[in-house]
Amino acid sequence: MFSFLRPLIFSLDPEVAHDLAIKSLKTNLIPENFFYVKNEEMLHLELFNKKFRNPVGLAAGFDKSAEVYNSLFKFGFGFVEVGTVTPRAQFGNPKPRVFRLEKDQALINRLGFNNHGADVVSKRISENIPEGILGVNIGPNKETSDKGDDFEICLSKLHHNADYLTINISSPNTEGLRDFHNKNSLSDLLTRINKIKKNNKIDKPILIKLSPDINSSEISNVCEITNKYSIDGLIISNSTDRHRDDLLDTNKNEKGGLSGKPLFDLSNKLIKNFYKELKGKVPIIGVGGVDTGQSAFEKISLGASVVQLYTGMIYRGPTIAKEIKNQLISILGKNRIKNIREAIGINA
Ligand SMILES: Cc1cc2nc3c(=O)[nH]c(=O)nc-3n(C[C@H](O)[C@H](O)[C@H](O)COP(=O)(O)O)c2cc1C
Repeated sequence: MFSFLRPLIFSLDPEVAHDLAIKSLKTNLIPENFFYVKNEEMLHLELFNKKFRNPVGLAAGFDKSAEVYNSLFKFGFGFVEVGTVTPRAQFGNPKPRVFRLEKDQALINRLGFNNHGADVVSKRISENIPEGILGVNIGPNKETSDKGDDFEICLSKLHHNADYLTINISSPNTEGLRDFHNKNSLSDLLTRINKIKKNNKIDKPILIKLSPDINSSEISNVCEITNKYSIDGLIISNSTDRHRDDLLDTNKNEKGGLSGKPLFDLSNKLIKNFYKELKGKVPIIGVGGVDTGQSAFEKISLGASVVQLYTGMIYRGPTIAKEIKNQLISILGKNRIKNIREAIGINA
């Protein structure tokens, strides 16, 4: 069905197609358990003291303002991350700002955190109880000079609504945000976050979402700080603003973050490095170029506890979570692995 519709969808501007998808998902007409698969219990696992139905999540950026997460759970995703949410609503960068690179099975986006703002998102989630595990990804407004303030505001306003919160320090489209990969800046930010957590008695898991464009000394620093501040998990990784040389599509020189297939190996390398350096003690959510059971399994075997995807759904359609789950179950069967938990880090 999707392969039939795809040329029509791809004839539209990517952001127009996305807005149409959000509109149609708002009807929430998908039948319950439509995307459930046989033997899904092989994919059940526990993480952050929560029971995950399966390890295939939808990454941040698709449901930026928490409008359709309950429809997305029905697509069969084990968890959904909404956001990035900023304290105040913002439009983001001028359009056009999302580009398909069909020849590379990739996207480039420079959206710049367009979203409805923390108050609207918080109210929306409070009024529409999530029917699955919901992560809320937070970040600063473009105009804010002290970005730490914005993380504090979002944390205070949104922690009630989330099963976990993601501190997004890795979007390439917000100037200066990636500077938080620097040891001192990250320490300062996490000192403030931990203070807010303590003062507001926030006990939700806090994760940090990392850039794929970091070097080995930054990896060591982030690991040291992850341990020092008892960070609950890492999301590896966001899109890259480099790695354009091997791309084939004419859109390759658009400014912004590159996601999809070209990010796959890059994020895998990082997952493996972090898993080893953290000795498997800090859960990793693996993201970047996942579009099949094999690619999800590869990330898990290198140390990811669960995975997320975005670009894969654009190219393969809404049945992608179901397909990946079926393929993962068959891979587990072939390797005589009873539950996906046992595969975490086996090839790291
Ligand atoms: C159009 C688009 C918008 C995105 N917006 C966000 C965002 O707001 N916050 C965020 O943390 N990541 C965002 N991402 C990054 C994804 O969450 C993910 O980390 C990245 O795309 C790599 O995964 P993929 O290769 O499966 O797409 C966005 C990605 C795309 C393609």
